[in-house]
Amino acid sequence: IDISTLRAVTGGVTTIDAGFKNTSSCESAITFLDGEKGILRYRGYSIEELAKKSNFVEVSYLLIFGALPTCDELAKFKADIRKQSLVDEDIKKILDGFPKSAHPMGVLSALTSALTAFSPKSVDVDSPEEMYDAIVKIYAKLPVLASWAYRKEEGLPLEYGDNSLGYVENFLKMMFDLPNEVYKPNPVIIKALDKLLILHADHEQNCSTSTVRIAGSSHAGLFASISAGISALWGRLHGGANQAVIEMLEEIKEDGGGYEKYIAKAKDKNDPFRLMGFGHRVYKNFDPRANIIKVAAEEVLADLGIDDPVLDIARGLSTVALEDEYFKSRNLYPNVDFYSGIIYRALGIPIPMFTVMFALGRLPGWIAQWREMRLRKEPIGRPRQLYIGATGRPFIEKEER
Ligand code: ACO
Repeated sequence: IDISTLRAVTGGVTTIDAGFKNTSSCESAITFLDGEKGILRYRGYSIEELAKKSNFVEVSYLLIFGALPTCDELAKFKADIRKQSLVDEDIKKILDGFPKSAHPMGVLSALTSALTAFSPKSVDVDSPEEMYDAIVKIYAKLPVLASWAYRKEEGLPLEYGDNSLGYVENFLKMMFDLPNEVYKPNPVIIKALDKLLILHADHEQNCSTSTVRIAGSSHAGLFASISAGISALWGRLHGGANQAVIEMLEEIKEDGGGYEKYIAKAKDKNDPFRLMGFGHRVYKNFDPRANIIKVAAEEVLADLGIDDPVLDIARGLSTVALEDEYFKSRNLYPNVDFYSGIIYRALGIPIPMFTVMFALGRLPGWIAQWREMRLRKEPIGRPRQLYIGATGRPFIEKEER
């Protein structure tokens, strides 16, 4: 039955589900998530196994193209990325127009959208070859733009990477190389960051991914759709939570380290404060990514010999909150971002870059979801509404209002 007939038969009945709490927007074969059991799988592979045995580029390939790559496929993917790892020099002029105080997420979103202007053929791609070309371009260029967003803020000269290095090492080099000092990352840092990128790589129809799919459903290009996703990720209730968590933990530390006051504030319905890094729309027992990250955070701090009082506050806060009736009754558990900020900080990533790191990790998921949506020839996303405004009103002339 088509939608017009259905509406005619039912008298225009529609469903309303604010926040899409129980509405599937699409069919997808990319990521499986069971919020009750705390299961997360990419293309059928468990997140625990991927985090342990794979690496970010391989997982990216898996998400985007549907299967773990053979050695030849991986080598070709990497070679194609290498060829696209330069950015048009004119992009630097756009970057120059931003104030140093600009948040790197705003800069990243704008520069990603600007890429379209320098690659007009990537706009409305249809064939698998054109799609592949656009995918490789954005995958290669986003880390460059991300590192430039940081270097702009720091007033540092813009760098290109060293294509002989692995993904994470190359990104860190682009971020932290100084004109007179080559940055040599510790292998512990490389491994931890790679794991974090894998854990963030996809999460089915979350806010930013739904944004990418819906923007792309109008046949806006891949870069414009990813730019929209970056903007959606920026918010504190989504990717921006990782920055908000560390700022909250820092505030608690400055305030003497007592977290009970903050737990009370979070429970007070007259106070807008929320415990950042707690709660998830889908996970109702635990967030499997948070479990992996918690262990990784402990390991990284131990390996690097860092004694971070903020980690103690995080441990205490989560223990107390988990025993509290308010949090228990609402199934509020630490999410992926409760611990990620602690690791980022230990690895020397500056706070405003935390959400940018999330965007780098989520990129393969956004690409995979956009590609799937286009290959399935999904219709334009266009929800209906339940109108609650005034009924027909006669126009009143200015003088008579
Ligand atoms: N602190 C205190 N109370 C909370 C919190 C929190 N962090 N999260 C939810 N609640 C409460 C709500 O006030 C509400 O209580 P009520 O039933 O008495 O009104 C109840 O729990 C349900 O909350 P909703 O907002 O309806 O849950 P929703 O699924 O819409 O929101 C969200 C999920 C946005 C993640 C929410 O838990 C939140 O704001 N958390 C803090 C921000 C955060 O960490 N975001 C990152 C999410 S993970 C990610 O995007 C990668």
